[in-house]
Amino acid sequence: MKIGIIGSGNIGATAARLFARAGHEVAVSNSRGGAGLEELIAELGGKGRAASIEEAARFGEVVLVAVPFGKYETLPVEAFGGKVVVDANNYYPQRDGRFAQLDGGETTSSELLASHLSGARLVKGFNTIWFEHLARQGDKQLPLEERRAIFIAGDDEGAKRTVARLVEEIGFAAVDTGSLREGGRRQQVGTPVYNKELSAREAAQVLSAN
Ligand SMILES: NC(=O)c1ccc[n+]([C@@H]2O[C@H](COP(=O)([O-])OP(=O)(O)OC[C@H]3O[C@@H](n4cnc5c(N)ncnc54)[C@H](OP(=O)(O)O)[C@@H]3O)[C@@H](O)[C@H]2O)c1
Repeated sequence: MKIGIIGSGNIGATAARLFARAGHEVAVSNSRGGAGLEELIAELGGKGRAASIEEAARFGEVVLVAVPFGKYETLPVEAFGGKVVVDANNYYPQRDGRFAQLDGGETTSSELLASHLSGARLVKGFNTIWFEHLARQGDKQLPLEERRAIFIAGDDEGAKRTVARLVEEIGFAAVDTGSLREGGRRQQVGTPVYNKELSAREAAQVLSAN
């Protein structure tokens, strides 16, 4: 599959390595038109290329967005049309600036991104896992219920299935928390699953208790 990566920092670069290792083709971008990514691209062994944000979005059947959330409105809307977009962004006011509608709980960062990228099929995912764990904790030898959970949420069931497959291909288990609005809220910063090392079995227990 062709995967576009928006943001090549901790999460974007880690995901690019895992997706390339699983056999996918990745186009990786940053805030500098793809400049300075030579070392990462070399690591991807022929499976990766550097790209601008627009090129990476157009390239991907699936596009992972992993940038500081506060920048979301700079993403070029047309390039994401029809794409399955994975939103790994979290809202940290000290980094992103204050968004009154998030502080007031009226909406969520993923709903804001979904309404900005209006033609995309958005799935919240990869939000609760620290990048060092993402790099190391995938294990395809384990049965699904014993694998580290990666939470997903969204309103497009087909898009969620696509993302769940990718999650499994890199050795994790996808745990669906529901719709973008309600399910997304269950995996935000500060929730009982945020940055917790949970297997899929443990994740189901935590979710049912909360
Ligand atoms: N760190 C984690 O373990 C973790 C885990 C789960 C979720 N998250 C969330 O995932 C997102 C990315 O986190 P990170 O730790 O990977 O961040 P990071 O290491 O700071 O990397 C951010 C990336 O976004 C790029 N970027 C900055 N502004 C941009 C813009 N306007 N348009 C496009 N790209 C832009 C940066 O480009 P340059 O390289 O050119 O500066 C950089 O490649 C955040 O929302 C974070 O909260 C992080």
